[in-house]
Amino acid sequence: MNIKVSVPGKIILSGEHAVVYGKPALAVAVDKYLTVVIKSCRNKKELINAGKEDPVLVKEAIKIVKETLEDNKVFDNGWELTITSKIPVGVGMGSSAAVSVGVITALMALASGDSRINDKKINDLAYKVEKKQHGNPSGIDNSTVTFGGVIWYRKEFDFLKTLWRLPFKIAASLDNFHLVNTGKPVETTGEMVSLVSAKLKRLNDSQNLLDKIEQETKKITVGLREVKEDLLKKAIKDNQRLLEKLGVVGIFAKTIVREIEQSGGVAKISGAGGIKDKSGILLVYHHDQEVIKKIARKYKLDDFKTRFGVEGIRVENLDL
Ligand code: PMV
Repeated sequence: MNIKVSVPGKIILSGEHAVVYGKPALAVAVDKYLTVVIKSCRNKKELINAGKEDPVLVKEAIKIVKETLEDNKVFDNGWELTITSKIPVGVGMGSSAAVSVGVITALMALASGDSRINDKKINDLAYKVEKKQHGNPSGIDNSTVTFGGVIWYRKEFDFLKTLWRLPFKIAASLDNFHLVNTGKPVETTGEMVSLVSAKLKRLNDSQNLLDKIEQETKKITVGLREVKEDLLKKAIKDNQRLLEKLGVVGIFAKTIVREIEQSGGVAKISGAGGIKDKSGILLVYHHDQEVIKKIARKYKLDDFKTRFGVEGIRVENLDL
């Protein structure tokens, strides 16, 4: 059997870090894809071509599937798994979640011989891999890339996570989002989550800070739904200030954000961020793409546009 799985990347529009503490977050699946192709072969070997992805993560995802399935005989015949991806690695666009979800989906489909998938099961297993990787994930990354769309997410407990696929598309008049890649942070997501935990213990108004992030997440959601650009822009800007207060934005990213603001736009980091050097992807809102391109060029950074709210996992049986 030959199977191809495509998994989208993701962007957190608001609520990163706060979501680890039970606050809501708003995220979208985006049209940059990771692809996993799995082929069964009769040579009794397991061949893994991880491409630019972390091979440890790939092995962890394979291990979780093997531990879960009652019957692993199908894997004894040998198979080859190849990953290719257009999602920038380690910058907050969901590359590691896409690896886990893609590998798990491909193996589950190979094992069952059926390309119809159980996305809830896949999401649960991918969350387990995220836990091994990061220690204390909220689950927003794996959920967004699995189910796709525009996602309102909240984790109450480890056993109770609520996820709403919001029934609206982002209006064409608000299609002024751009992404600027400030570069891969030296810190991992797990390290940034730990840093925030330490910071919140030191702050005496930590609950207040988390509450304020929640308010911005709600404003961004309402701004998008009711097409209120001013509300949306102010909330993105204020959210960035709160993330700076939380200690997840480095000086380089801050400088670029201020320059974008001076040119009439707004921007915030998206994802875990980074403080020592680079801070990952910036979510930018600006009417003039040329202005953003100019700023990105000045700092030798990549800038691009993506479609927000695309579908989640897709599986194709290449034999049919
Ligand atoms: O791994 P990233 O950069 O996509 O960040 C994930 C979002 C966090 O809120 C920082 C962590 C989490 O598990 O929710």
